[in-house]
Amino acid sequence: MLSCLKEQKVFIPAYTCKAVVEAVKLAGKSLEFVEIEDDGFNVDCEDLRGRLDSDSVLLITHQFGFCAKVDQLMEMAFEAGAVVLEDAAASFGSKFQARLTGTFGQAGFFSFDSTKRLNAPLKGGFLIFNDEDLYNKAKSYIEENLSEAPFLKKLYFFFLGLCLCIINYKILYPIFHWFKFKRKNHFTDESFPSSNELNHFYKYKLTEFQANIIIKQLDNIDLILKRNKQIWDSYSLGLKNLHNIIRLRPLGLTKCPFAFPLGFRAISFCFIRNALG
Ligand SMILES: Cc1ncc(COP(=O)(O)O)c(C=O)c1O
Repeated sequence: MLSCLKEQKVFIPAYTCKAVVEAVKLAGKSLEFVEIEDDGFNVDCEDLRGRLDSDSVLLITHQFGFCAKVDQLMEMAFEAGAVVLEDAAASFGSKFQARLTGTFGQAGFFSFDSTKRLNAPLKGGFLIFNDEDLYNKAKSYIEENLSEAPFLKKLYFFFLGLCLCIINYKILYPIFHWFKFKRKNHFTDESFPSSNELNHFYKYKLTEFQANIIIKQLDNIDLILKRNKQIWDSYSLGLKNLHNIIRLRPLGLTKCPFAFPLGFRAISFCFIRNALG
Protein backbone atom coordinates (compact mmCIF):
# COMPACT_ATOMS: atom_id res chain seq x y z
CA MET A 1 0.00 0.00 0.00
CA LEU A 2 2.83 2.39 0.91
CA SER A 3 4.48 1.77 -2.46
CA CYS A 4 1.30 3.08 -4.14
CA LEU A 5 1.48 6.45 -2.37
CA LYS A 6 3.60 9.42 -3.43
CA GLU A 7 3.98 10.79 0.13
CA GLN A 8 7.48 10.22 1.48
CA LYS A 9 7.26 10.46 5.28
CA VAL A 10 5.56 7.74 7.27
CA PHE A 11 4.65 8.44 10.91
CA ILE A 12 4.49 5.33 13.06
CA PRO A 13 4.31 4.72 16.83
CA ALA A 14 7.68 4.26 18.53
CA TYR A 15 6.30 1.01 19.94
CA THR A 16 5.35 -1.22 17.04
CA CYS A 17 5.94 -4.50 15.31
CA LYS A 18 9.14 -4.88 13.28
CA ALA A 19 7.10 -5.77 10.17
CA VAL A 20 5.85 -2.17 10.09
CA VAL A 21 9.37 -0.73 10.10
CA GLU A 22 10.30 -3.29 7.45
CA ALA A 23 7.34 -2.25 5.25
CA VAL A 24 8.26 1.44 5.40
CA LYS A 25 11.88 0.68 4.50
CA LEU A 26 10.92 -1.68 1.69
CA ALA A 27 8.67 1.02 0.20
CA GLY A 28 11.68 3.38 0.25
CA LYS A 29 9.98 5.94 2.54
CA SER A 30 11.41 7.77 5.51
CA LEU A 31 10.47 6.70 9.02
CA GLU A 32 9.18 9.21 11.55
CA PHE A 33 8.70 7.77 15.01
CA VAL A 34 6.03 9.21 17.29
CA GLU A 35 6.11 8.74 21.08
CA ILE A 36 3.43 6.51 22.57
CA GLU A 37 0.83 7.43 25.18
CA ASP A 38 1.76 7.29 28.87
CA ASP A 39 -1.09 4.90 29.59
CA GLY A 40 -1.13 2.88 26.39
CA PHE A 41 0.70 1.68 23.30
CA ASN A 42 -0.64 3.96 20.56
CA VAL A 43 0.54 7.30 19.21
CA ASP A 44 0.65 10.19 21.65
CA CYS A 45 -1.28 13.08 20.05
CA GLU A 46 0.85 15.76 21.72
CA ASP A 47 4.09 14.37 20.30
CA LEU A 48 2.56 14.33 16.82
CA ARG A 49 1.14 17.84 16.96
CA GLY A 50 2.62 20.15 14.28
CA ARG A 51 4.70 17.43 12.60
CA LEU A 52 2.35 16.31 9.80
CA ASP A 53 2.25 17.94 6.37
CA SER A 54 0.97 17.12 2.87
CA ASP A 55 3.97 14.83 2.25
CA SER A 56 3.02 12.62 5.23
CA VAL A 57 1.32 9.32 5.80
CA LEU A 58 0.02 8.80 9.32
CA LEU A 59 -0.20 5.16 10.29
CA ILE A 60 -2.78 4.92 13.05
CA THR A 61 -2.04 1.73 14.96
CA HIS A 62 -4.56 0.13 17.31
CA GLN A 63 -2.09 -1.98 19.23
CA PHE A 64 -3.35 -5.16 20.96
CA GLY A 65 -6.93 -4.28 20.00
CA PHE A 66 -6.89 -0.99 21.95
CA CYS A 67 -8.20 1.89 19.89
CA ALA A 68 -5.99 4.90 19.23
CA LYS A 69 -7.46 8.40 19.76
CA VAL A 70 -8.88 8.29 16.26
CA ASP A 71 -10.93 11.52 16.41
CA GLN A 72 -7.94 13.70 17.37
CA LEU A 73 -5.55 11.94 14.98
CA MET A 74 -7.94 12.18 12.02
CA GLU A 75 -8.45 15.88 12.68
CA MET A 76 -4.68 16.53 12.74
CA ALA A 77 -4.16 14.56 9.54
CA PHE A 78 -7.06 16.31 7.81
CA GLU A 79 -5.77 19.78 8.74
CA ALA A 80 -2.27 18.91 7.46
CA GLY A 81 -3.49 17.23 4.25
CA ALA A 82 -1.80 13.95 5.27
CA VAL A 83 -2.89 10.47 4.19
CA VAL A 84 -4.20 8.18 6.95
CA LEU A 85 -3.68 4.43 6.86
CA GLU A 86 -4.82 2.30 9.78
CA ASP A 87 -2.76 -0.50 11.18
CA ALA A 88 -5.62 -2.68 12.39
CA ALA A 89 -3.38 -5.78 12.26
CA ALA A 90 -4.20 -6.52 15.89
CA SER A 91 -7.62 -4.91 16.25
CA PHE A 92 -10.07 -6.91 14.20
CA GLY A 93 -13.49 -6.32 15.81
CA SER A 94 -12.44 -3.37 18.02
CA LYS A 95 -14.60 -0.28 17.74
CA PHE A 96 -13.95 3.41 18.29
CA GLN A 97 -17.18 5.26 19.06
CA ALA A 98 -19.21 2.36 17.64
CA ARG A 99 -17.25 2.29 14.36
CA LEU A 100 -14.89 -0.57 13.51
CA THR A 101 -11.17 0.14 13.50
CA GLY A 102 -9.65 0.07 10.03
CA THR A 103 -12.59 1.96 8.50
CA PHE A 104 -11.55 5.54 9.32
CA GLY A 105 -8.55 6.20 7.07
CA GLN A 106 -8.06 6.04 3.29
CA ALA A 107 -7.24 2.38 3.85
CA GLY A 108 -6.65 -0.13 6.62
CA PHE A 109 -4.87 -3.44 6.95
CA PHE A 110 -5.49 -6.52 9.11
CA SER A 111 -3.26 -9.46 9.96
CA PHE A 112 -3.99 -13.19 10.00
CA ASP A 113 -0.62 -13.89 11.64
CA SER A 114 -0.61 -16.85 14.04
CA THR A 115 -0.46 -14.49 17.04
CA LYS A 116 -3.59 -12.54 16.04
CA ARG A 117 -7.27 -12.84 16.83
CA LEU A 118 -8.02 -14.41 13.46
CA ASN A 119 -5.07 -16.56 12.50
CA ALA A 120 -4.31 -18.39 9.31
CA PRO A 121 -1.96 -20.04 10.78
CA LEU A 122 1.34 -18.61 9.55
CA LYS A 123 0.96 -15.33 7.66
CA GLY A 124 -1.86 -13.59 5.84
CA GLY A 125 -4.15 -10.61 6.07
CA PHE A 126 -6.48 -8.33 4.20
CA LEU A 127 -6.80 -4.70 3.16
CA ILE A 128 -9.83 -2.42 3.11
CA PHE A 129 -10.17 0.90 1.29
CA ASN A 130 -12.18 4.11 1.43
CA ASP A 131 -10.22 5.56 -1.48
CA GLU A 132 -10.95 4.14 -4.92
CA ASP A 133 -7.74 5.36 -6.55
CA LEU A 134 -5.59 3.79 -3.83
CA TYR A 135 -7.66 0.61 -4.08
CA ASN A 136 -7.01 0.34 -7.85
CA LYS A 137 -3.29 0.99 -7.44
CA ALA A 138 -2.95 -1.53 -4.61
CA LYS A 139 -4.91 -4.12 -6.59
CA SER A 140 -2.62 -3.74 -9.61
CA TYR A 141 0.42 -3.90 -7.33
CA ILE A 142 -0.82 -7.15 -5.78
CA GLU A 143 -1.64 -8.66 -9.15
CA GLU A 144 1.85 -7.81 -10.46
CA ASN A 145 3.79 -8.86 -7.38
CA LEU A 146 1.93 -11.76 -5.75
CA SER A 147 1.28 -15.15 -7.30
CA GLU A 148 -0.41 -18.37 -6.28
CA ALA A 149 1.97 -20.56 -4.29
CA PRO A 150 3.23 -23.64 -6.18
CA PHE A 151 1.97 -26.99 -4.84
CA LEU A 152 5.19 -27.84 -2.96
CA LYS A 153 5.21 -24.42 -1.32
CA LYS A 154 1.61 -24.94 -0.19
CA LEU A 155 2.61 -28.28 1.28
CA TYR A 156 5.50 -26.60 3.07
CA PHE A 157 3.18 -23.88 4.47
CA PHE A 158 0.76 -26.58 5.59
CA PHE A 159 3.55 -28.43 7.39
CA LEU A 160 4.83 -25.22 9.04
CA GLY A 161 1.28 -24.29 10.09
CA LEU A 162 0.81 -27.71 11.63
CA CYS A 163 4.09 -27.39 13.56
CA LEU A 164 2.98 -23.97 14.85
CA CYS A 165 -0.28 -25.45 16.14
CA ILE A 166 1.58 -28.33 17.80
CA ILE A 167 4.16 -26.18 19.59
CA ASN A 168 1.37 -24.17 21.18
CA TYR A 169 0.75 -27.05 23.55
CA LYS A 170 1.63 -26.27 27.17
CA ILE A 171 4.55 -28.71 27.46
CA LEU A 172 6.02 -28.13 24.03
CA TYR A 173 6.05 -24.33 23.97
CA PRO A 174 8.71 -23.89 26.72
CA ILE A 175 10.96 -26.36 24.88
CA PHE A 176 10.48 -24.49 21.59
CA HIS A 177 11.07 -21.13 23.31
CA TRP A 178 14.26 -22.36 24.94
CA PHE A 179 15.58 -23.72 21.66
CA LYS A 180 14.69 -20.74 19.47
CA PHE A 181 15.30 -17.83 21.88
CA LYS A 182 16.43 -18.49 25.42
CA ARG A 183 19.59 -20.44 24.67
CA LYS A 184 20.72 -17.46 22.54
CA ASN A 185 19.80 -15.10 25.39
CA HIS A 186 16.94 -13.63 23.33
CA PHE A 187 13.42 -13.04 24.57
CA THR A 188 11.71 -12.81 21.20
CA ASP A 189 12.62 -12.51 17.52
CA GLU A 190 13.07 -8.81 16.83
CA SER A 191 16.15 -8.91 14.64
CA PHE A 192 15.99 -6.80 11.49
CA PRO A 193 16.39 -8.61 8.13
CA SER A 194 19.91 -8.22 6.81
CA SER A 195 18.90 -7.82 3.14
CA ASN A 196 16.06 -6.25 1.15
CA GLU A 197 15.18 -9.68 -0.27
CA LEU A 198 11.47 -10.38 0.32
CA ASN A 199 10.79 -13.65 2.10
CA HIS A 200 8.22 -16.13 0.76
CA PHE A 201 5.39 -14.73 2.89
CA TYR A 202 5.50 -11.55 0.81
CA LYS A 203 5.39 -13.37 -2.52
CA TYR A 204 2.37 -15.66 -2.42
CA LYS A 205 -1.35 -15.25 -2.00
CA LEU A 206 -3.19 -16.87 0.89
CA THR A 207 -3.52 -20.60 0.24
CA GLU A 208 -6.87 -22.41 0.19
CA PHE A 209 -6.25 -24.25 3.46
CA GLN A 210 -5.52 -20.95 5.23
CA ALA A 211 -8.60 -19.29 3.70
CA ASN A 212 -10.77 -22.17 4.90
CA ILE A 213 -9.48 -21.79 8.45
CA ILE A 214 -10.17 -18.04 8.38
CA ILE A 215 -13.72 -18.53 7.07
CA LYS A 216 -14.44 -20.96 9.90
CA GLN A 217 -13.13 -18.44 12.44
CA LEU A 218 -15.22 -15.66 10.88
CA ASP A 219 -18.29 -17.83 11.33
CA ASN A 220 -17.43 -18.04 15.04
CA ILE A 221 -16.23 -14.48 15.52
CA ASP A 222 -18.72 -13.59 18.28
CA LEU A 223 -17.59 -16.58 20.29
CA ILE A 224 -13.92 -15.73 19.74
CA LEU A 225 -14.45 -12.13 20.92
CA LYS A 226 -16.39 -13.32 23.94
CA ARG A 227 -13.59 -15.76 24.83
CA ASN A 228 -10.97 -12.97 24.49
CA LYS A 229 -12.98 -10.89 26.93
CA GLN A 230 -13.23 -13.80 29.42
CA ILE A 231 -9.47 -14.36 29.27
CA TRP A 232 -8.90 -10.63 29.84
CA ASP A 233 -11.24 -10.66 32.86
CA SER A 234 -9.56 -13.68 34.40
CA TYR A 235 -6.07 -12.10 34.03
CA SER A 236 -7.38 -8.83 35.48
CA LEU A 237 -8.82 -10.63 38.45
CA GLY A 238 -5.72 -12.77 39.02
CA LEU A 239 -3.40 -9.74 38.87
CA LYS A 240 -5.53 -7.18 40.64
CA ASN A 241 -3.36 -7.09 43.77
CA LEU A 242 -0.23 -6.27 41.79
CA HIS A 243 -1.36 -2.75 40.88
CA ASN A 244 1.75 -0.99 42.10
CA ILE A 245 4.07 -2.81 39.74
CA ILE A 246 1.86 -3.41 36.73
CA ARG A 247 0.38 -0.77 34.48
CA LEU A 248 -2.99 -1.90 33.19
CA ARG A 249 -5.07 0.11 30.83
CA PRO A 250 -8.70 0.46 31.93
CA LEU A 251 -10.87 -1.98 30.04
CA GLY A 252 -13.49 0.71 29.37
CA LEU A 253 -11.40 2.14 26.53
CA THR A 254 -12.00 -0.83 24.25
CA LYS A 255 -14.70 -3.38 23.80
CA CYS A 256 -12.24 -5.81 22.32
CA PRO A 257 -9.06 -6.58 24.25
CA PHE A 258 -6.88 -8.82 22.18
CA ALA A 259 -3.85 -9.35 24.38
CA PHE A 260 -2.95 -8.55 27.96
CA PRO A 261 -0.13 -6.01 27.82
CA LEU A 262 1.74 -5.29 31.03
CA GLY A 263 4.04 -2.40 31.88
CA PHE A 264 6.68 -2.86 34.54
CA ARG A 265 7.85 0.24 36.37
CA ALA A 266 11.29 -0.92 37.47
CA ILE A 267 12.57 -3.11 34.69
CA SER A 268 16.34 -3.16 34.15
CA PHE A 269 17.66 -1.62 30.94
CA CYS A 270 19.94 -4.62 30.54
CA PHE A 271 16.94 -6.94 30.27
CA ILE A 272 15.38 -4.81 27.51
CA ARG A 273 18.63 -4.82 25.53
CA ASN A 274 18.81 -8.59 25.82
CA ALA A 275 15.19 -8.89 24.83
CA LEU A 276 15.87 -7.07 21.60
CA GLY A 277 18.93 -9.18 20.93
C1 LIG B 1 0.41 -3.64 15.23
C2 LIG B 1 0.94 -4.60 14.21
N1 LIG B 1 1.10 -4.18 12.94
C3 LIG B 1 1.56 -5.01 11.99
C4 LIG B 1 1.90 -6.31 12.27
C5 LIG B 1 2.42 -7.19 11.17
O1 LIG B 1 1.52 -8.14 10.81
P1 LIG B 1 2.03 -9.44 9.99
O2 LIG B 1 2.74 -10.29 10.98
O3 LIG B 1 0.79 -10.05 9.45
O4 LIG B 1 2.95 -8.93 8.93
C6 LIG B 1 1.76 -6.79 13.57
C7 LIG B 1 2.16 -8.17 13.91
O5 LIG B 1 2.51 -8.54 14.97
C8 LIG B 1 1.27 -5.90 14.58
O6 LIG B 1 1.11 -6.31 15.85
